Amino acid sequence: MNIVIIGTGYVGLVAGGCFAEIGHHVTCVDICPKKINGLKQGQLPIYEPGLDEIVARNTAAGRLHFTTNLADAAPDADAYCIAVGTPPDEDGSADLQYVLAAAREIGQHLARPAVIINKSTVPVGTAEKVRAAVSESLTARGADIPYHVASNPEFLKEGVAIGDFMQPDRIIIGADSEEALNQLQTLYAPLTERGARLIHMAVRDAEMTKYAANAMLATRISFMNEIAGLCEKLGVDVENVRLGIGSDSRIGHRFIAPGAGYGGSCFPKDVRALVNMAENAGYDPHVLHAVETRNHQQKNRLYQKLCAELGDDLSGKTIAVWGLAFKPGTDDMREAPSLALIHALLDAGAKVRAYDPVALHTASRALPHAAQENGDLLLLDDQYSAVDGADALILVTEWEHFREPDFNTLRARMHRALFIDGRNQFHPDDMHRHGFRYIGVGRGHAIA
Ligand SMILES: NC(=O)c1ccc[n+]([C@@H]2O[C@H](COP(=O)([O-])OP(=O)(O)OC[C@H]3O[C@@H](n4cnc5c(N)ncnc54)[C@H](O)[C@@H]3O)[C@@H](O)[C@H]2O)c1
Repeated sequence: MNIVIIGTGYVGLVAGGCFAEIGHHVTCVDICPKKINGLKQGQLPIYEPGLDEIVARNTAAGRLHFTTNLADAAPDADAYCIAVGTPPDEDGSADLQYVLAAAREIGQHLARPAVIINKSTVPVGTAEKVRAAVSESLTARGADIPYHVASNPEFLKEGVAIGDFMQPDRIIIGADSEEALNQLQTLYAPLTERGARLIHMAVRDAEMTKYAANAMLATRISFMNEIAGLCEKLGVDVENVRLGIGSDSRIGHRFIAPGAGYGGSCFPKDVRALVNMAENAGYDPHVLHAVETRNHQQKNRLYQKLCAELGDDLSGKTIAVWGLAFKPGTDDMREAPSLALIHALLDAGAKVRAYDPVALHTASRALPHAAQENGDLLLLDDQYSAVDGADALILVTEWEHFREPDFNTLRARMHRALFIDGRNQFHPDDMHRHGFRYIGVGRGHAIA
């Protein structure tokens, strides 16, 4: 099939590269000329393991193209995937301006019957708005070309996005017509022929499925963070509780690690958008409110733990931060817990020395006051330089990279051997043996 992807960010570029990899002819469109020019020269705008090889291979094979001009690709398109951002509006609702602008542009350029597939995460009812926007543009140019609008929410996880796309747990297809369903079945045939499961449902059901999935995962994280807080009060080690409940096959081990709160480009905004959808429908989303409140508080926990050790006035103190990306495997800094921590540290007068193996460039954009030298916030490209003279080291993002540090070097370079482990990566007994005062999350009887 000839596919046009509108929006070449995390979702659009992964989907575009992977659709080309399974044999389709793909054109990725973006309004950002810098991004498209870079891609034409083989430079990826994001860090995603394995994506560079896929983009290079398929570009060389002539199956993957990049352009800023939708008109270039529209004449041959069988399918358009909308993969633009849906950031939160002031009231928490998903801002649909980019989705609807993409829909209007499709209507301006649609040249033959096609299916329009929404991959962006959008509130229930958006497909109807997309249909209306396309129709308006077609009418304005006096064209009458048949098209269908389908929903195909994306479930990829940054850091392992290629595997998620190529071996998905399931492919959700929201299609209200036989023709749209057929087109999507053809699109995904190379994956379903290898065993991928395609689940067909109504468009509105598919739109809701995406929000419900993210809200469920966010709920698990907030639930476990709540249990971790209680463990601290009651002298219980949450890591044992986590193992104990995770081994129950009804619960499972994933998304129950306590930590620094969830961040990223999806969970926070999608929970907020679902709350907004519920409230607009006259329905009180008690659980979702609690999920958000707990997450907001959790993002402050590492800072509170530090202040409990060093006092509220951190002026004259130097704090090292390991890990800036919202999770390992990505350079995405959107709503990263490290941001809340660093802002709190700077407000309390601390000097911050931060390191991340891949997110330094995105972090410098997210933290405009960051300097390379002599500022209150330094972003450093070496994990040991980051701890020089530090009164504490706080681990925020659990990169593999940090698993086996040289503890002697750490202790020698730090001013005070205080380690706050925001992801429970280390065992308290081991850390005591290495000479550190160690504080994890929810490790009630393990603080010493
Ligand atoms: N990032 C993820 O892990 C992830 C996972 C699943 C779903 N989603 C959802 O997918 C959607 C896209 O997310 P993302 O992280 O890829 O966003 P992103 O911000 O990385 O990329 C969006 C891209 O769309 C481009 N764009 C905006 N308007 C355009 C237009 N009219 N024409 C062409 N390009 C345009 C922007 O320039 C940008 O490059 C969101 O709804 C998000 O919630 C994201």
